[in-house]
Amino acid sequence: MERTLAIIKPDAVAARQVGAILQRIELAGFTLRWMRLVKLSRHDAEGFYAVHRTKPFFDSLVTFMSSGPAVVLVLESADAIRKWRALMGATDPAIAEAGSIRRDFGSSIEHNATHGSDAVDTAAFEVDYFFSDLEYSNSAEG
Ligand code: RTP
Ligand code: MG
Repeated sequence: MERTLAIIKPDAVAARQVGAILQRIELAGFTLRWMRLVKLSRHDAEGFYAVHRTKPFFDSLVTFMSSGPAVVLVLESADAIRKWRALMGATDPAIAEAGSIRRDFGSSIEHNATHGSDAVDTAAFEVDYFFSDLEYSNSAEG
């Protein structure tokens, strides 16, 4: 089993698409390991997306990600990182696969409804970023 960090971004929360996206996650067979609603500060968003700090879209991305509440999730399944990115679709909703979450709920390359970790090491960093040891020990690990 593998875990990945998923975020339902502020655009999708504001558009009341959380339930629809969670339904797709559950129908795809992921196990929910943690879930929280958080409004990121600019500082939080900058740290989370630090890998992109030199990109031209960084300031806009940080503004967007701290613009309202987001739902942060830890998802578990076999091959969870790749599987969640496939369910989300390409970064740009305009070219994302038909039936993908970003195609159906995203509105631009930036306002693209969801985030997913892209590798085992980034997933570990991202899960730690939101879920401290104390909180995680209280999660629904079963
Ligand atoms: P994410 O990290 O959010 O799951 O998205 P991703 O891997 O598909 O894309 P990435 O290259 O990591 O970009 C992170 C987020 O930055 C915004 N973005 N804007 N204006 C632009 O050209 C641009 N490119 C990326 C998106 O919100 C993207 O998800
Ligand atoms: Mg990424």
